[in-house]
Amino acid sequence: KILVLDFGSQYTQLIARRIRESKVYSEIFPFNASIEKIKSFNPKGIILSGGPSSVYDKGAPLPDTEVFKLGLPILGICYGMQLMAHCLGGRVAKAVKREYGKAELIVDDDADIFKKVSSRTRVWMSHGDKIERLPVGFYVIGHTDNSPIAAMANKNKRFYALQFHPEVVHTDEGKKILQNFVYDICRCRPTWTMKSFIETSKKEIKEKVGNNRVICGISGGVDSAVTAVLVHEAVGDALTCIFVDNGLLRAGEAKKVEDTLRKNFHMDIRVVDASDRFLKRLRGVKDPERKRKIIGNEFIKVFEAEAMNIKNVGFLAQGTLYPDVIESTSFKGPSAVIKSHHNVGGLLKKMKLKLVEPLRELFKDEVRLLGKELGMPDEIIHRHPFPGPGLAIRCIGDVTKSRIDILRKADVIVLEEIKNAGLYRKLWQAFAVLLPTKSVGVMGDERTYENVIAVRAVTSLDGMTADWAKIPYEVMERISNRIINEVKGVNRVVYDITSKPPGTIEWE
Ligand code: XMP
Repeated sequence: KILVLDFGSQYTQLIARRIRESKVYSEIFPFNASIEKIKSFNPKGIILSGGPSSVYDKGAPLPDTEVFKLGLPILGICYGMQLMAHCLGGRVAKAVKREYGKAELIVDDDADIFKKVSSRTRVWMSHGDKIERLPVGFYVIGHTDNSPIAAMANKNKRFYALQFHPEVVHTDEGKKILQNFVYDICRCRPTWTMKSFIETSKKEIKEKVGNNRVICGISGGVDSAVTAVLVHEAVGDALTCIFVDNGLLRAGEAKKVEDTLRKNFHMDIRVVDASDRFLKRLRGVKDPERKRKIIGNEFIKVFEAEAMNIKNVGFLAQGTLYPDVIESTSFKGPSAVIKSHHNVGGLLKKMKLKLVEPLRELFKDEVRLLGKELGMPDEIIHRHPFPGPGLAIRCIGDVTKSRIDILRKADVIVLEEIKNAGLYRKLWQAFAVLLPTKSVGVMGDERTYENVIAVRAVTSLDGMTADWAKIPYEVMERISNRIINEVKGVNRVVYDITSKPPGTIEWE
């Protein structure tokens, strides 16, 4: 396995993903991880990530220099390269010309890390500092027009450093370069697959849980469903799932997930219909943040009440993913809001539960692969993300049963037409939003004064940034016609053409 030390680059996660895609397990530690922690992880090689700092800045993040004495291969990327130079006696200075974007790398040494890489190859640069003097034992293995030292190596020590980013797709042969490091230099073998993950994970869950019962909250989304199936594979009937129906789900959603888990996987699922409670508490609430808080709190209450009815529970299974874990251990400090579906801290204390989080090392696309390997239907695995507070935050203004019903009907049509057009898997999300405005229309010679539905469809890789989707006019037209004809109370449909940033994906 390979350890990535994080110096704050926006691409750190990508490095770990690329390595895992090469079937070698990889984890990210913060830059200041202790040498003991690094040793106990027992990596075969270490990668120093990029980062926004300059090595000569006060307070620049520096690793424990013992890492250079472990005798392990090390690859420095961008800031990681400058760090290597700085820590090993070279000199780093501000570059006269910042280099940002595409550049052509000329390979000066086509052995090991550049084995089978073209002699001229396109790479992605993003740096303001450069190496002025090589550390002792290093020599140049690649350069560009702007950077005489774009790559350097000390082969005796197996230290390599790249000024460019091999982990981004804009570096044409980046994958090959990383694989050369991982396979040839670190001598890792490509054995990390979902199958092996499932086996190890099942064993770990069994050992951890022992003879205790486990409960798991199901939300209808991918993460919780995959968690439940994996834990069920490990502990069988010792798992009980709790599905809180808050009345704010999409049409038929609760039923679909329940049916799949019950019929295909024979799980014990308790469905709690709490729609009335949620709607009552939301009456008259227009403020988005208050809506979220109310729904979050109410969820915990309902979930707890149900959990208390189950005997001998020792563990709570949760679908926490690796990005959440990284975010909360990043050296930038625990970030203000960590996306966790529901805050279950209280429940853990009250019922003295421990957590099982079998997905905490996985990325979203890996969770989908895992689900597939576990035999889950595509319909669940490739479901678009759906926010915890559900339709309430797509029902702008008052949340009432009749308004949620209008929204739910429109939402069905949006999804049906998107799926019919073969667009579902190409989009990150597509949905309807009910606006708090009414507008005048004319239907069958009659004046109407009815609701407006906004249609939102975006493409995105991770939900952090997004583009509004350029869906064909004909599809928009069908969606609009059908909503106005089939959903009573709506006489106008608009399409949202805002990207994120500056907009967010959801409206509230
Ligand atoms: P925004 O609206 O912030 O959303 O651009 C980014 C992604 O997160 C989803 N989202 C949520 N998911 N609980 C969730 O589980 C929430 O409260 C929540 N709010 C937004 C949103 O659907 C999008 O995919």
